[in-house]
Amino acid sequence: MSPLNELYGQIALCQKCEIAKFRTKVVPGEGAEDADIMFIGEAPGWHEDQQGRPFVGPAGQFLDKLLATINLNRQQVYIANVIKCRPTNNRDPLPAEMQNCRPWLDSQIEIIKPKIIVTLGRYSMAMYFPGKSISKIHGTAQKRDDIIYYAMYHPAAALHQQSLRQAIEADMLKIPKILAEATNVQEAEPQPQQLNMFEV
Ligand code: URA
Repeated sequence: MSPLNELYGQIALCQKCEIAKFRTKVVPGEGAEDADIMFIGEAPGWHEDQQGRPFVGPAGQFLDKLLATINLNRQQVYIANVIKCRPTNNRDPLPAEMQNCRPWLDSQIEIIKPKIIVTLGRYSMAMYFPGKSISKIHGTAQKRDDIIYYAMYHPAAALHQQSLRQAIEADMLKIPKILAEATNVQEAEPQPQQLNMFEV
């Protein structure tokens, strides 16, 4: 069994949060085990809870379209959420739920070893860009250790708001260049650990 499938088996048994009792299906994440790009959303909604797959409702269809603009599909990337169970009535994830679920996400990152982690929305952004405002940092990247973190608006928020939609479309188009630069950097000499924000 692949390390990801083994992890999915463990996630399916998790009962750390109250919401685990009410889920139809757990939504661990899906995509390529060796993906260069990992997208992290917020939490499963109704559609995701029904299917056990991330981003399969309207926000997911928009994400698929955004991926197509950079000639990618969801099988070529990895898509996960901050929490793996649907919060009751689609409420926001609670800090305790995010904390309980964090080891699962960390294990996914450990297995996949993405070059870029793209945060979708405020909740995943807060994990990797603490204290920052999404309206200020969307479309910017930060390199830490061997991973580039890149913040984008959440597709559900951008779907119906014209200004956010333009922003998320433009931010998606920057990803290939960031990936190309990350690949060049990693193929050259190993870099000293650094923490720097850069505009792309
Ligand atoms: N919104 C999210 O943040 N994640 C999903 O999987 C679906 C909608």
